[in-house]
Parts: sequence; structure tokens; C-alpha cells
Amino acid sequence: MSKKVRIGIIGVGTIGSVHANNYANVPNAEVVALCDILPDRLAEKAKLHNVAKTYTDFNDLLADPKIDAVSVCVPNHMHAPIAIAALKAGKHVMLEKPMTLSAKLGKQILDARDKSGKLLQMGMVWRQRSSAQLVKEVIDNGRLGNIYQIRVKLIRRRGIPGLGGWFTTKAMSGGGGLIDIAVHFLDLVMWLSGKWNPTKVSAKTYSKFGSPIKDYHYVSMWAGPPKPNGTFDVDDYAVGMVRFGSETTLSFEVAWACNAQDESYVELLGDKGGIKLDVDSDPILRTEIDNRIADVTLQYDKKENGFTIELQKFCDAIQGKGKIPATGEQGVVAMKLLDAIYKSSELDKEVDIK
Ligand SMILES: NC(=O)c1ccc[n+]([C@@H]2O[C@H](COP(=O)([O-])OP(=O)(O)OC[C@H]3O[C@@H](n4cnc5c(N)ncnc54)[C@H](O)[C@@H]3O)[C@@H](O)[C@H]2O)c1
Repeated sequence: MSKKVRIGIIGVGTIGSVHANNYANVPNAEVVALCDILPDRLAEKAKLHNVAKTYTDFNDLLADPKIDAVSVCVPNHMHAPIAIAALKAGKHVMLEKPMTLSAKLGKQILDARDKSGKLLQMGMVWRQRSSAQLVKEVIDNGRLGNIYQIRVKLIRRRGIPGLGGWFTTKAMSGGGGLIDIAVHFLDLVMWLSGKWNPTKVSAKTYSKFGSPIKDYHYVSMWAGPPKPNGTFDVDDYAVGMVRFGSETTLSFEVAWACNAQDESYVELLGDKGGIKLDVDSDPILRTEIDNRIADVTLQYDKKENGFTIELQKFCDAIQGKGKIPATGEQGVVAMKLLDAIYKSSELDKEVDIK
């Protein structure tokens, strides 16, 4: 292998460009090819990111022997087919979140990884943010004691992305706010707490705002504007409780849209301390110091970029200089949890996670 890992990016929409920009900050990476099914977008992004080789068919990119690894940045329903084809073609794979549409497909990706001997990394970028790394360190140092309850809150007043497009079409996305944004925080708290054994879930999902599309009122739209004749057949709100054996519980509330204030945080409660990681403020450790109740605000370097760090770790792992920070096995656990949340909602009862 050359000194730099030669990267192909498949899918150059919003996040494909984020990958291209952040690989540019990684000294041992070089983006050598881009792929997208939209020729105009592909030409525009090739110029923007100064990449010479372009492909409109991912199979052609995968056949290029000068590519060592790929970033898979396509809509969710294409994650499994493209990741599996890439592994079969002998490429290392950086796979955007969510891993895929179901745990069953996730396991197929794992099988392909195991047969290929190549590396597979999940795009769980939240773990790589400096604030999350700091909170992880505090937890690993034992500051919380035994963690018995975890809270996940991710509330958007009106934040449905690309209404009517692939994000809101179940066959392409696998679901709504739950699979799109809650996956970040569910993964984050399992990683922070080290609890990768969700056993039961009781949950409910709702679809209250996305349809009819013409009646959705909003201030701004990620991946917009809305497609008036498009599809909305996914969840825009989900609530539930997860059990991790009999020792730990997790309550979550996630909304792409609801009539409540915007909020985004995770909070872990232990018998020695509790910690809140809020998107909009510094992490706070709630504990006791010298027999007094104390709140400690944790300071950290805010200049670091989670995407650069995750892509740096991907390239380092390929070159044998480190480990994959978010594994396919963990991706499958997250998919099992999401599958069970949707199933519990459908059956209106608590379900086991197997
Ligand atoms: N990590 C994060 O924070 C984060 C943020 C946004 C999106 N994502 C994930 O990234 C993925 C893409 O999201 P996005 O917002 O960039 O979507 P997008 O719609 O902006 O871009 C997707 C691109 O993939 C292209 N594409 C579709 N099918 C293809 C195929 N078969 N071959 C090649 N290209 C194909 C589309 O033409 C489009 O340009 C999704 O899985 C999403 O969940 C992750």
C-alpha cells in the first residue's frame, strides 16, 4: 500500500462532501475517486473537492485496483448492498450511520467483512467529539459508580429532513427520526456506559407531522425543500424504555417534529455521580465533594472535529496504527435495538431483544 490510504467516496451528497472535506485534514488519506448516480452533482463535487476520477456506477469504482478503501455515504437502503460489494472487492469500508435497515442485513455485512479480512467502521461520529471522549474518560475513571439509569432526549420542534424524499420513505430510510437521529445517541450511551446488552424494550412511535406534506410548517429544512408529491410513511416521534438485564434502564424520547422545545442531550445516572452531555453546553458532572453536593463543569478543547478524528482513526487502523473505533458488531447491536423498538410499537407490548 502507498503511504496514503487511497479513498473512494460513494455518494457525494451532503455527508459525502463532509467526508471529502475531512479526509483533506487527514495526512495519511488521499481521496482519489468519487461516485454518484447524479452526473451533474458528481461533476460539481469533483471540481469542488479537486478529485480527478469519477464514476456513476459504484461497481466500476470498486473494480479500480488503485482504491484501498471507501466511504459509503448513500441513502440507508443502499448501505448493505454497497458495503457488501465493497468488502467482496477487497476494499476497507467506512459506513455511514445507520448501519443498514435491519439487524438481519447488518449481520450480512459482518459476514462479508469476515470473509474479506478487510476493516469495517461504523460512522458513529458522536463518539469522536471531544466532549464525548471527555465524558467517556470521566466514566471510565469510575466517577459515576454503578450506572443504573440512562436518559436520551433528542427533540426537534420541526426538523424533518428532506420531507417527501428518501429520508421520509420507509423503503429507502428504514424509518424516521428514530433510525436517523436516535441511532447516534443510542450508540453513544451504549459506548459511554459500556453496556452493549439491551435485553427488552417497550416503546411507541408516532407519525403526526410529516403528512400531509403540504400542511407541514417549518422554519428551515435539512435536505429540503419538501417534495409535495413525495412520500412520508415513517415515524416523527418515538418514546420508550430499554432494559439492560435487571441492573440498568434507558429512557428515550426522540422527535423529528413535535410541539415541544428543542433539546439534545444524554445523561447517565450512577450511584456516585451523574453526567449530562448536552449538545449546547459543556458536560456537567453532578456529584458530591467533601460531603457537599457539587456540580462540576468540564472544560475541553472545542477545536477538534469529530469527522476528522473518525476518518483519521479509520486510515490509521488500515495502516495497522490503531483500532477501528466503532465496530460492525456494535452496529448490529444498535440495529437489533432499533428493530425491537419498531416491533414493540407495532405489537403494543414489551419485546425481547435477541
Ligand atoms: N454522520 C452523520 O452525522 C450523518 C449526517 C447526515 C447523513 N448521514 C448519513 O449519510 C448518508 C447519506 O446522507 P446525505 O444526507 O448525504 O444524503 P444525500 O441525499 O444528500 O446524499 C446521498 C447521495 O447518494 C447518491 N446515491 C444514491 N444512490 C447511489 C448509488 N447507488 N450509488 C452512488 N451514489 C448514490 C445520491 O445521488 C446523493 O448524491 C445516510 O445514510 C445518512 O443517514 C450521516
